[in-house]
Amino acid sequence: MIKVAPSILSADYVNLQKDIEVVDNAGAEYLHIDVMDGQFVPAISYGAGWVKAIRPITNMILDVHLMVQNPERYVEDFVNAGADLVGVHVEATPHIHRALQMIKNAGAKAEVVINPGTPVEMIKPVLYMVDQVLVMTVNPGFGGQKFLPETIKKIAELDQIKKDQGLDFDIEIDGGVNNETVVAAYQAGATVAVAGSYVFDDADPASKVNAIKEATK
Ligand code: DX5
Ligand code: ZN
Repeated sequence: MIKVAPSILSADYVNLQKDIEVVDNAGAEYLHIDVMDGQFVPAISYGAGWVKAIRPITNMILDVHLMVQNPERYVEDFVNAGADLVGVHVEATPHIHRALQMIKNAGAKAEVVINPGTPVEMIKPVLYMVDQVLVMTVNPGFGGQKFLPETIKKIAELDQIKKDQGLDFDIEIDGGVNNETVVAAYQAGATVAVAGSYVFDDADPASKVNAIKEATK
């Protein structure tokens, strides 16, 4: 069964605590926090202050996805705010190895993220040091986009590398995930599924967390 990471990007910001409690009680393992800087992606979302505010109200794994140019400027702030796991895009820095090292040295789990147009080849040198790889299944920046099926082969490629090299990182998918699109990704080796609009655009987000889990039993 896949682990589920509801993305608060699609939650109700004025009732955020309620939305977080609903998915926590539904058994979601991660809470996905999308940080956008208006440069790497067009939108601006929220910063480390949100992580600090959320930390005391849940024990879910706080999974911070930095869609930020030169993320090494901010990784320590997010770890200090209470992030358990911090993800940095390989496309956002010429210093991906250093950015991942900084996350680990600060005491959090380190994730490398690849866009749909980026091959697995780009991150091979750092796979030995990561706890998770995020394979974007849409182009980053917005919730509510359509899942790109061509990303599945990259998930399978990473799963094969795990086996060949005896590595044990999680493989997360993000974008357009629902109870249908998750199936092929899970079969290819995805272990964590981010879902934003599918979960929170529903009157009953708990049922959507369950539907993703049921689809991958
Ligand atoms: C997109 C973000 C996603 C977003 C997913 O740039 O990284 O985490 O919240 O939204 P859905 O699940 O609606 O595609
Ligand atoms: Zn995300």
